[in-house]
Order: sequence, then structure tokens, then C-alpha cells
Amino acid sequence: MRILESKFVKGFIKMADDGYQLGWHERNGGNLSYRLKPDEVQSIQPRLNCPGEWLEIGAEVPGLAGEYFLVTGSGKYFRNIIVDPEACIAIIEIDEKGVNYRIRWGLVEGGTPTSELPTHLMNHEVKKRVTNGEHRVIYHAHTTNIIALTFVLPLNDEVFTRELWEMATECPVVFPGGVGVIGWMVPGGRAIAIKTAQLMEKYDVAIWAHHGMFCSGADFDLTFGLMHTVEKSAEILVKMLSMSPHKLQTIQPQNFRDLAKDFKVSLPEQFLYEKE
Ligand code: 13P
Ligand code: ZN
Repeated sequence: MRILESKFVKGFIKMADDGYQLGWHERNGGNLSYRLKPDEVQSIQPRLNCPGEWLEIGAEVPGLAGEYFLVTGSGKYFRNIIVDPEACIAIIEIDEKGVNYRIRWGLVEGGTPTSELPTHLMNHEVKKRVTNGEHRVIYHAHTTNIIALTFVLPLNDEVFTRELWEMATECPVVFPGGVGVIGWMVPGGRAIAIKTAQLMEKYDVAIWAHHGMFCSGADFDLTFGLMHTVEKSAEILVKMLSMSPHKLQTIQPQNFRDLAKDFKVSLPEQFLYEKE
């Protein structure tokens, strides 16, 4: 099958464009990766390029040995992905040790995978393990309202989770595990990858202070929907805080417990603390 006609490539391109349309990808901001299924690798195998040279990932991901990923290119603009996908995205193969990758398709005008490849792959490695292989998508976006909140809320998991849950009733159902938060760090390297992957053991959402968000999910719809829901909730919180620093009424801890029962989700008590 022609690579650009395969369903997973079309889904990847649509997701990237949806994110661009929502204003989350100024310039080259953000990146996306997808772990191919064995039958997808097989269906495109004849169309892959001859293997080029192995390059260092910048992190060790033995749990991903031999896997193939579709990834966005470093410095490529999300707004161009739909227009010229072969120049903006690539399929990479991971070596048998999980320390090197090589490009097998795409990036036809040159370039390398996203500078956040260490974070993407370390997140994939964790998620492949903790979800029994179910999660395949890692998405990083520069979501405006979440970024704004990292200047005014304390940078901890409890406060972010609770405030986001309170802003929209569906939130605790969409991300019952909550969200993790990391204070500002230099992006693009191994250190921030390690920190983010630690959060991904527990959460499907990791917030990078003054930078953006990472989401993990089983497919493009679920991962995009998760990013969209968290960011929408952040937008409501920004609007609420712009009107008044105080809420006149809100969803209370017992309301969340009642919701959890009816919607059959478990909401950790750590987020249902009593406020002053
Ligand atoms: P890349 O263009 O290398 O993917 O970097 C964009 C970005 O958002 C870095 O955090
Ligand atoms: Zn970024």
C-alpha cells in the first residue's frame, strides 16, 4: 500500500492539522509520534527506503527494540504537514538495543525527527509496558491556556488536577487518573525525558511549565480528545480567573465521589482534598 494512503498516516496528518487549526502549533511548536502495529509495518514494508545510517536517539529505550514510529520532523511546521507530509514527517526504525534509530521514509528535503524524540520514545516505552501495548500515540502541543495557568497555579499534580476537574463535569471521566506537572526545564534532552516518563507511569497527561503539554493514548482520536478536553478546561479556568479570583459555587469533593460511582471511574482521594 502507498504509505500516504495508509489509514494510520492519514489519521496522523489529520490530527496534526486539527491541532494546528486550534492554535496549538505556532511555527514548529509541538510534535507527534505514533507506534506502528506489526500489520501496518508489513503493509508498507515494500515502500520503505533502503536503511540509512543509524543515529543516536539520545536515550535508551530497550523496550522499543525493533519498533517503527511515524514522527514529526524537527523544525517542521505543523501547518505544512497537510500540504507536504513527505517533507515534514518520517517513519523511523529503532535498533535491537533501543539506542539508535534510522529513517526509513519521509523527510525528503532532509532533517531529523523531532528534538523531543527522547521524551516521545521514553514515554512510548513506559506506556507500552503499563498499558500492555495499548497506547500508541504521544502528542506534544503548545496549548495556550494550560501554559498560562502554569504562571499562576502552584506547580503540583493535586492542584492542577483538581482545578481542571472542577471546570467541566466531563473532565474527571476523561482523565480520572489526573495530570502530572513538571517545573520549567530545558526542553529537547534526556533529563526532561526522564522526568516526563516518570509521570507517564501514572498519568496520561504531563504538563511542562511555561511550555506545553504531553498526552498519551491508544489512538489518534483518544489522544487528541484528551489534549482538547484538558485545554478546554484550562480555557474555562483562565476565563473564570479573569472574572474573579473566587468561585461562588463549584463541584465539591462529594460531587466527584458521586460522579465516580455512576460513571464507574475511580478518582484518587489525593485530588479530593478539602480546601480552606
Ligand atoms: P521540534 O520542531 O524539534 O519538534 O521542537 C518543537 C517543540 O515544541 C520543542 O518542544
Ligand atoms: Zn514544545
